[in-house]
Amino acid sequence: MASSCRLAGLVLLLVAALASTLPAACRAQLQVGFYDTRCPNAELLVRQAVTAAVANNSGLAAGLVRLHFHDCFVRGCDASVLLITNGTAERDAPPNFPSLRGFEVIDAAKAAIERSCPRTVSCADILAFAARDAVALSGNVTYKVPAGRRDGNISIDTDTFTNLPGPNSTATELIENFARKNLNAEEMVILSGAHSIGRSNCTSFFERNRERLASGTISSAYQALLEVLCSPPVRTADMDVSTPTVLDNNYYKLLPLKLGLFFSDDQLIRNNTLVPLVNAFAANETLWKERFTAAMIKMGNIEVLTENAGNIRLNCNVLNTRSSSSAEMIETLFPAAGDEVAAT
Ligand code: HEM
Ligand SMILES: *[C@@H]1O[C@H](CO)[C@@H](O)[C@H](O)[C@H]1NC(C)=O
Ligand SMILES: *[C@@H]1O[C@H](CO)[C@@H](O)[C@H](O)[C@H]1NC(C)=O
Ligand SMILES: *[C@@H]1O[C@H](CO)[C@@H](O)[C@H](O)[C@H]1NC(C)=O
Ligand SMILES: *[C@@H]1O[C@H](CO)[C@@H](O)[C@H](O)[C@H]1NC(C)=O
Ligand SMILES: *[C@@H]1O[C@H](CO)[C@@H](O)[C@H](O)[C@H]1NC(C)=O
Ligand SMILES: *[C@@H]1O[C@H](CO)[C@@H](O)[C@H](O)[C@H]1NC(C)=O
Ligand SMILES: *[C@@H]1O[C@H](CO)[C@@H](O)[C@H](O)[C@H]1NC(C)=O
Ligand SMILES: *[C@@H]1O[C@H](CO)[C@@H](O)[C@H](O)[C@H]1NC(C)=O
Repeated sequence: MASSCRLAGLVLLLVAALASTLPAACRAQLQVGFYDTRCPNAELLVRQAVTAAVANNSGLAAGLVRLHFHDCFVRGCDASVLLITNGTAERDAPPNFPSLRGFEVIDAAKAAIERSCPRTVSCADILAFAARDAVALSGNVTYKVPAGRRDGNISIDTDTFTNLPGPNSTATELIENFARKNLNAEEMVILSGAHSIGRSNCTSFFERNRERLASGTISSAYQALLEVLCSPPVRTADMDVSTPTVLDNNYYKLLPLKLGLFFSDDQLIRNNTLVPLVNAFAANETLWKERFTAAMIKMGNIEVLTENAGNIRLNCNVLNTRSSSSAEMIETLFPAAGDEVAAT
């Protein structure tokens, strides 16, 4: 299907038609095993980079899961979160800077992949694979990642404010925020379980939790611990006070004990629609993991670019130059894989 689309695009170009009316079939879906023929080692190379990085710093597993989430919620899963422009990109905005981490892991994976198969694997797909591998390492559960995303080339800091939920969000705001990304309330609760790993800067919860203490929605012992953890020089706290490096369902068990770190986490047990979901995931880890992997796949589908709607960045941090773009264009018109042309 991909090859006939490409050929259709070529014909359109040759007759100098404006490629605005490509057949519907060409709006390609993501596919599991997308790189099996194009770059058979792609997923292995990502896994190696992630495994090495997490062995050195276990916190990077959390960083990589969040990196994919923050990519997907802002302009879709298009690696816009990785772009470095002039200080006004997504990664420079307060929801991302300085807390977002794992960029160097993606760069290492991309470098290994470019050496093995140049101009073939998008940064957006590398982010999705890396998040999956981070989940596998921290949660002992895995899933197949549909691929074929392409990279976008727009990254604007202020987009993060309107698209990413914040730690002060109410249940209603969280539900609405996820709904805008085609994720329902249950999927919002399921994906929030990612807060079972990683850490948070104290600035993200400190002031608000003093108010929660006053209203009795945070354990006073927990708040006392956080006050200690957040006194200089330490400025971060684990998200899950019980098993901070293991991706498990303890997140849901902590909430009814008033041990949720953020106001937004606590909101999941303050809404009658959401409480039964929290209880179900607290009671059954297998159920949560099943739903979590499915929700990660769905999140990885948000507003993806495929085929000619995006490109394959050679360096995940910068837009392709004119020369790299034209070389890429030649490759798109005359694909190296001869069987693709033959198949049509
Ligand atoms: C439901 C709404 C969500 C809110 C309000 C939220 C908010 C936050 C905040 C404020 C932090 C701490 C950042 C800092 O250091 O200041 C954080 C960390 C984190 N978030 Fe979320 N998040 C949400 C959903 C998600 C989702 C859907 C995922 C992934 C599927 C996710 C994964 C993570 C991870 C893994 C960390 C720890 C990162 C690290 O240790 O580097 N979050 N989140
Ligand atoms: C291991 O982590 C340290 C700091 O946490 C970093 O400086 C070093 O580059 C890392 N090494 C590798 C191989 O990732
Ligand atoms: C640099 O920042 C300005 C806004 O301050 C923006 O309009 C412009 O597109 C940015 N340049 C690049 C190369 O991203
Ligand atoms: C990992 O998951 C498998 C089931 O998928 C289970 O049998 C095994 O005990 C788990 N290992 C750990 C260390 O939790
Ligand atoms: C729970 O959230 C839903 C969706 O925002 C909202 O309609 C409902 O009023 C909330 N329920 C409570 C008890 O806050
Ligand atoms: C926490 O956030 C503040 C304010 O953005 C920042 O100055 C500080 O470096 C951050 N600390 C850590 C450990 O990320
Ligand atoms: C959350 O609310 C507190 C006040 O309770 C405020 O100090 C803090 O800046 C807010 N945090 C964010 C990220 O909006
Ligand atoms: C837990 O969830 C799994 C997966 O949906 C299901 O097969 C199993 O029966 C559930 N266990 C219990 C005790 O309900
Ligand atoms: C931006 O994306 C479009 C669409 O993929 C592509 O044709 C163009 O070359 C890109 N621009 C840059 C500077 O990379």
